[in-house]
Amino acid sequence: GKGEYDHFMLKEIHEQPTALSQALEGRIDTQNARIALADFEPGTFADVDSVQFVACGTSYHAALYGSLALKQAGIESTALLANEYSVSAPPVDDDTLVVAVTQSGETADTLNALRQAEAEGAMTVTVTNVVGSTAAREADEALFIRAGPEIGVAATKTFSSQAVMLTLLGQRIAADRHGEPSADLETLLPDLAAMPDAIDDLLAETDAEAIAERYHGSRSYFFIGRGLGFPVALEGALKFKEITYEHAEGFASGELKHGPLALVTPDTPVFAIFTGQEDEKTLKNAEEAQTRGAPVIAVCPEGHRAVDVADAHLEIPETDADLAGLLANVQLQLVSYYAADLLDRPIDKPRNLAKSVTVE
Ligand code: F6R
Repeated sequence: GKGEYDHFMLKEIHEQPTALSQALEGRIDTQNARIALADFEPGTFADVDSVQFVACGTSYHAALYGSLALKQAGIESTALLANEYSVSAPPVDDDTLVVAVTQSGETADTLNALRQAEAEGAMTVTVTNVVGSTAAREADEALFIRAGPEIGVAATKTFSSQAVMLTLLGQRIAADRHGEPSADLETLLPDLAAMPDAIDDLLAETDAEAIAERYHGSRSYFFIGRGLGFPVALEGALKFKEITYEHAEGFASGELKHGPLALVTPDTPVFAIFTGQEDEKTLKNAEEAQTRGAPVIAVCPEGHRAVDVADAHLEIPETDADLAGLLANVQLQLVSYYAADLLDRPIDKPRNLAKSVTVE
């Protein structure tokens, strides 16, 4: 049941520290700065030249996150919408790895993309929450995120667990490919291990409810981020529209001035996500919206320069640049939740949506 919580979504947001601990259990070795993914034989990914991630919706945002992290680790990689794969897939060969990211393991669009990739000779992996799901059975390899069951239609803990496991998988692919683990692991792994505590701290101190109240009744809600902050902006907006039924859009920070700025007014709060990647540019983009009267909510650590500029602040604990976006996402999940609650929406079962989409 929901226990002390009014909705499964809020319960599942609060389960993220546990979900991540379960995901990481036995899979990282912080002492030796190594990844211990015994899910795969040594050298499984040694011949991988390029990686394609395929997924839909929230899982696509996790895939985009994982794909960017992999690129930063020096491997050619791209995230593709599974429902576009049949009309827009880049070529694959037997050195292409196709990673199907699907919480349920039953999403028809994602299964179709997986099957197409297999038919074309790619190696396939699925990152999923469901042991025994179709994706787990059909892919060459499966990596289980161990998030536990998610009842709320809006994906929350599974997004965080997917993004973390994709970050880990990416490091493993890069290590197999390059014959040695990346030097970044020495700083990344301790911060990864500290994620459950960081999320606990964030949950204990969040101002998300007050922010939701302050901007209640706005015309539209915008989310901007760059680099690893971009998929988080997209996810922030998707969650917001799904459960509040209000208009929300996520943009790459630098895109704001190429069109969307026409929509910006004092009635369109802008959530700006700072992940430590070219934050100065994102701050400038946020200020461009502020000049047009939009309130800016900075999602960033305490002491960040954006806090002085912004109209409001959602604090995230200090962490590695590879992980900051995931903490920002938790704050945005909470803002969506409280905004939807103020509007009295059926949060766990939004209209027109189903937990698992088994039609094309
Ligand atoms: C949004 C949401 C959906 C799913 C999408 C893919 O909150 O849950 O966008 O992420 O339908 O589902 P899976 O991950 O089961 O393939």
